[in-house]
This record gives sequence, C-alpha cells and structure tokens, in this order.
Amino acid sequence: MTRGLIPSPRFIEYLSGTVAWQSPLRISIDEEWRGVAKTFGADLEKSIGWSVELVGEGDACDVEILGLPELDVEAFQISVAARTRVEASSPAGVAYALTVLRQLGPASLWSDVPSAVASIEVPCVVIQDGPAFAWRGLHLDVSRHFFDVKTVCRLIDLLAAHRLNRLHLHLNDDQGWRVEIPSWPRLSEIGSTRRSSPVGHEDDGVDDDTPHGGFYSASDLESIRHHAAKRFVQIVPEIDLPGHAQAAIAAYPELGNVTDSLEVWTRWGISDHVLSVGPRSLEFAEDVVLYVASLFPDSPVHIGGDECPTIEWEQSSDAQSVMRDHGFHEARQLQGLFTKRMASALEREGHEVLAWDEVLDAEVPKGMVVVSWRSSAKGVEAAKRGLDVVMAPMQFLYFDWLNSLSPDEPVALAPAPFATTWEKVYGFSVVPPDLDPELAHHVRGAQAQLWSEYITTRDHLDYMAFPRLAAFSEVVWGTASTETDFRPRLEEHVERLAAMGVHYRPLDVDE
Ligand code: ACM
Repeated sequence: MTRGLIPSPRFIEYLSGTVAWQSPLRISIDEEWRGVAKTFGADLEKSIGWSVELVGEGDACDVEILGLPELDVEAFQISVAARTRVEASSPAGVAYALTVLRQLGPASLWSDVPSAVASIEVPCVVIQDGPAFAWRGLHLDVSRHFFDVKTVCRLIDLLAAHRLNRLHLHLNDDQGWRVEIPSWPRLSEIGSTRRSSPVGHEDDGVDDDTPHGGFYSASDLESIRHHAAKRFVQIVPEIDLPGHAQAAIAAYPELGNVTDSLEVWTRWGISDHVLSVGPRSLEFAEDVVLYVASLFPDSPVHIGGDECPTIEWEQSSDAQSVMRDHGFHEARQLQGLFTKRMASALEREGHEVLAWDEVLDAEVPKGMVVVSWRSSAKGVEAAKRGLDVVMAPMQFLYFDWLNSLSPDEPVALAPAPFATTWEKVYGFSVVPPDLDPELAHHVRGAQAQLWSEYITTRDHLDYMAFPRLAAFSEVVWGTASTETDFRPRLEEHVERLAAMGVHYRPLDVDE
C-alpha cells in the first residue's frame, strides 16, 4: 500500500506490511511538545471521532516521539512499525511528521465531519524529510474582498496540511482598510467600507452598488496569530504605503495631495491618489505600521511599496519642495522617504522588513527582504545587490490568474492568454536558473499570491488556491520531480482536499 504524499518526502522507502491503529491512539511525547500531539488529537477527533492518549516514556504506545537535536529545525524522521518512531528537533518538525502520518492514513482522516472509523491501516515506511526553503508562503489580499477570521483560520489549516509556513496578509489597499488602529479610528470607521464594487471584469465598467466592508480588531488578529502559531504558520502583516492608499485618504483627507473629498475606491486597478510626502503622512505611515507590527511581535513585517503612481507628487508644489530639499531629480525618489521611515522604525522594534520589488528602483535599506513579484529577474537583481529575496513572480505564482484557458473559467484579473495551470506551477523553479549558484543562498523561498479583486467567496478562494497550492507546496518544499510522478499522488491528494470540504478546481477541464 502506498499513499500519495504531498509534498513528497526527501527520502521514502515503503516496507512490506501495514500497522493497524485504533482509538485511543497512544502517543509518547516529551512534556514540552505535548501541545503538538494535542493539536493532532483534536484533528483526529474532528475527522474520525478518535481520541489520543498521551502516555509516559517507556509505556506501551502506537507512536513514540523523540527529540533528535542534530536534525535541522523543520526536519523529521519517521519509521512506521508496531511502535512507530518519530524524531525531530523542534515542535514544527514533530507537527510536520504527524501531518505525514495523517497523510499515510485514509482520506477520512482529513474529513471536517466525523465518520465512524473502527481501525485504520498505515503502511510501514521509513521517511527522512525536511524542507529546502525556509519561506514557504501564501499571500492573501483581504482588502479587495474581506475574509473573516474563520475563513483565514481555515486557510491556515490548509497551509499546515501542505507544510507551508507563512501567511502574508495584505491588510490595506485603495479599496479597503482592514485593521482597526485605535489612534486613527476613521481608518476602520470610514476606510473599511466601499460603496460599490465592479461586477464581472473591471473593463466591463459595471457596478454592483452594494457596500462591501469589514475589518479586524486587535483581538481578531490575535486569534488569527494564535491559531497560526499552533499550526506553525507565521503571519506576515502588510501595510502597503504610500501608494494603494485611497481608503486611508478617504478616512483622513489631510494625508492626501488633493482637496477634493475621496471615497474608498470602487474600481479595481491602481488609484493615482497616494499619500502626500508631508511630515504628517510620514508620521501616519510609521504609526500604523508600528501598531500593526506590535500585534505580531515575532513576525517580519511587509511595508508594500508597489505600484505607487507619482502624478500627484509631480503636480504638488509641496512635494516639489521636498524633492528640492533632498536633492531628488525624480518624483519616484520620494517613495524612498516612506521606505526608510517605516523600515527604520520597524527595525528599531526588532522586526525584519519586507517590501515588493519596486524598492529596487531606489536605494534599498540594508537587511530588507525583497518580494520579487514582477518577474524572477527582479529576484536575481535583488540577490546580486546582496539582498535576500522571496520569489513570488506573477507569471507562475499569482493564483488570481486563470487556472486554464478554458472559456468556462470564472472571470480573473489577467485575461487570456495569461493562465497559470497547476502543471505550470509544478514546473516553477524557486531558485532562478540564471542565478549565480553562489548567490542562491539569498533565496529564502517563495510564496503564492491570492489577490482578491475577483475572489468574493470562500469557495472561489478554494478554487483559485487548489490544486495549484498543492503543486506549489512540493516545489517550495524542494522535492518536485516530474509531472508523471506528481499526478497520481495529486489524484489521491484531491480526495483529502474533498474530505476537508475544499472546493478545488478539478484536475482536468476541457480547454
Ligand atoms: C503587486 O502585485 N502589485 C505586488
């Protein structure tokens, strides 16, 4: 008996025979790692109604979990036998091993509705495993469409099921501000609701005239952070400034460049309305990013910095005067004032800082991590400049793009001929082939992006994420091989997705 493990382990050998497990599953584990076994127990209880019994060292047990300090932090070893042995050097390694054990059982172990299962057969197997990349992420845009705490926590569970470990939350944009900031209350009072949204494709110019809104309180974000920590997923909050700021300016017009009153933007695309470069706007940027960072004390923080139109700065005498003060020749250099101000404040508080690859257009503060979205070439450029990089090229990893060229695909941001099939994702190379191997250590890993202009429901989110995220998880784990090897495992894996209630896109659709 083999099981379609995804992501595939670095080393696996199926032995003959199986072991049978029944409830209660007896696990021996060190006191300080018991939380991991309890989470596993809660998962089994939810899926098949079983309980996990934590037994003492040396007692009869089904699974014995041992510390092996010489293993890398996320690595683990498994030997399934009458007394199954799991070894790891960290709780994350243990959690990954337990995830693999769960995949070694039937798909019912992933069900979100309990079924009656008397006994399960697990194949005898030896596995040695660990990821090639430390950063294995998904980005979720909660601005264009808001997703509630429950949906985000479910997504975290799905990431953990694929041994992905970062969730990047895009918390503000022109179309909605999604986090309550006590010292700037109008951001959530005004900036979190837009009057209307486009229907169908933006280019069709049709509006729904229906308000859309929502935001997270500090306690909502704390729930998300706790849930994520339990699943060994780190939340990476993003405050995207000085562009993508129309919702903030709608709330606080004095932060903008124009006197007309603005509303939270009701179109998709990039608004020309950006923060002014005055002292109050810089203070605002620092203030909000520090507050959001304080809600995620152990997280790196993303400061956005993408797609900032300069037209308003070019037309503003105040901005021109700031340019003269700094000896800038081009308006786009003004963006560097925000980058520096936000980054140095965050660094003072001990946060690592990330930004989209547009920061490469100016001097980049030392230690900043670049998220390379426009192409892999931007990642190569960052690495050549001595910067670490998270690969997120839109051509492979923008999961808001069409799943295929089939006319039946739901409307997506990029029209045909742009499509990103799961097969294409599976062919992605995290380290760009043209990167000097001596610079490969700058590649921290990769993340997929779920921009949500066209993703309005949880089912649609599932459809855009899966199976592409399953393919991505193996790529970024570092064990992708051929499509011929992957496909049969993916066919088994979608049964797990179905058990979890994931509305995944079928593997084959007529194109
Ligand atoms: C981006 O897609 N604007 C980062």
